[in-house]
Amino acid sequence: MPQPSMKEKQAIQDAFKEMSSHYEEVVDGELRLFWGWSYRSFLQELVRHTRIQPDQKILDIATGTSVIPRELLEQNIPGIQITGLDITESMLRHGQHKIRALDKQNAIRLVCGDAMVLPLAGNSFDVVVSGLASHHMNIPLMLSEMKRVLKPGGLLSIIDVGTSPIWETRIFQGLARVIAFGYFLIKENPTRAWAEAAAVRNLRTPLGWKNDLAQAGFNQISVKKLKSKYTWVPEPLHIQSSY
Ligand SMILES: C[S@@+](CC[C@H](N)C(=O)[O-])C[C@H]1O[C@@H](n2cnc3c(N)ncnc32)[C@H](O)[C@@H]1O
Repeated sequence: MPQPSMKEKQAIQDAFKEMSSHYEEVVDGELRLFWGWSYRSFLQELVRHTRIQPDQKILDIATGTSVIPRELLEQNIPGIQITGLDITESMLRHGQHKIRALDKQNAIRLVCGDAMVLPLAGNSFDVVVSGLASHHMNIPLMLSEMKRVLKPGGLLSIIDVGTSPIWETRIFQGLARVIAFGYFLIKENPTRAWAEAAAVRNLRTPLGWKNDLAQAGFNQISVKKLKSKYTWVPEPLHIQSSY
């Protein structure tokens, strides 16, 4: 599968730049509408089910406005250090603003960069997490970078939208693109519509995730479907694995 072009990456950055000031409210509305989850409880599900030990180094891929790092800090696990990485500077700026209000702000650092070419040293994190973002990436490239920065024995934990075999067929994938484009055009704007329609091709079934993880060299793979409001809407998945 091809690496997203520069034009696609620019469209993603433009879409999230436009959204950054009201991102958390918009996503809260979308998750409640499609899955029946509040945005906060959805990301708490990821944090609650990710085993983190004191003093570990954690990387949050595509951290957005730093909600996951802030949720991790709320767990009061002593000595953890969190790096949040994102490609969209204005999302990080909003995130940094919120981090400044916290007591333990030094435990979080934010880095601007591409998850498919991580500007981070190899073998340097105990845990890599990511929420609601893998569908904007080339999954094999993202996984190979996650593996490179994880220490041996490190844990990977991702929560995002999945798909089902029928939606992977060409005809249904085309239909899903049209639906995604139309919905986000009406509710948001053309850049978001374009970015979300392009993301449809990156969606994975649970089996697709298992295959990609195994191919990237991960083991102890688990992919769980999370509760969802409607059977016809692609379900949320929690993907965990170690390396
Ligand atoms: C839907 S938001 C999720 C943000 C955050 N994880 C959360 O759950 O609130 C998707 C994020 O992915 C980021 N993103 C998309 N492609 C990326 C890439 N190639 N590298 C790093 N971040 C990326 C966007 O900038 C955006 O902030």
